[in-house]
Amino acid sequence: MYSSLKGKHLLATQDWTVEEIERLLAVASRLKEERNLGIPHYDLLRAKTFFMLFFEESTRTRNAFEAGIHQLGGHAHFLTPKATQIDHGETAKDTIKVLSRYGEGIGVRKTFGVGHAYMGELAKHSSIPVVNMQCEDFHPTQVLADLMTIKEKFQNNLKNKKIVVSWTSAPNYIRPLSMAHSLVLCMPRFGLDVTLAHPPEFKLKPEVMEQAKKNAELAGGKFEVADSMEEACKGADIVYAKGWGPIMHTEDEAEGISIIDTYRKNGSMDWVVDKRKMDLTNPGSIYMHCMPFDRDIEVTSEVVDGPHSVVYDEAENRLHIMKAIMAATMAGL
Ligand code: CP
Repeated sequence: MYSSLKGKHLLATQDWTVEEIERLLAVASRLKEERNLGIPHYDLLRAKTFFMLFFEESTRTRNAFEAGIHQLGGHAHFLTPKATQIDHGETAKDTIKVLSRYGEGIGVRKTFGVGHAYMGELAKHSSIPVVNMQCEDFHPTQVLADLMTIKEKFQNNLKNKKIVVSWTSAPNYIRPLSMAHSLVLCMPRFGLDVTLAHPPEFKLKPEVMEQAKKNAELAGGKFEVADSMEEACKGADIVYAKGWGPIMHTEDEAEGISIIDTYRKNGSMDWVVDKRKMDLTNPGSIYMHCMPFDRDIEVTSEVVDGPHSVVYDEAENRLHIMKAIMAATMAGL
């Protein structure tokens, strides 16, 4: 016997039980299989509305939700602070009180500043499910698609498979901690051993590290920290490497970008995923990235386009997971 997911907010995977996540993944797999068989889904959320409030840009998250709700028979409203009265100061409470009267679900992306607190405030006053489409700390819809992909690639046999969550030197701007946080928190709950690798300036938040350790202990798995991508890749089954900012080290953006760039000085490959590092991994290992990636900066094209890479399958699973999230939280599927 289980309780329905209808009306449940998704602000972080840590707020959902393992059983609830497994149930969501089962819905996503079913929807994926049916779509591949050409079975339509437009009765599941016919005439329902999902609001998508984006404070920042997106390719995958926006289009997976928008295509997804269309396939489910509903409609998405694309909103920005400028396209609403949010930029004029309308509060989270007033915004959601009104939108709750018009539609059946809302997703929000706000990755800098107080995104998670803003979403919490929306959820507090909302009568419709609020979905975190990425905040400064968490990216639940991505990590759920990642988990779905890993389960598919390893035939559901995740126990003590080693996932490396590594930092890379991604240029030009400060990326949030949300992917690294989400991965180290979520993956141990499903039996994976996690090795987090990063240079000293790129620590994660202490409360997240603490919770990740607890999650690993509870599941009987390992959570280790390394200071070398190469060392971490030895014996890995999954390499998931992406950049994040030195947010725990400095609040100065220019200094942060300069620190990131230091790790690419003189053509250093220390924090780049290349064939040499993938050759250190276990047979059948996979390379993952949430995308967008900086080709030949974070990862070589040889790896992205090579036999280990599952990045496009991973991106496709965003669609199936988004549909499952909307169908489950808006209609109780
Ligand atoms: N991975 C991801 O969230 O991609 P977008 O930023 O394009 O949505």
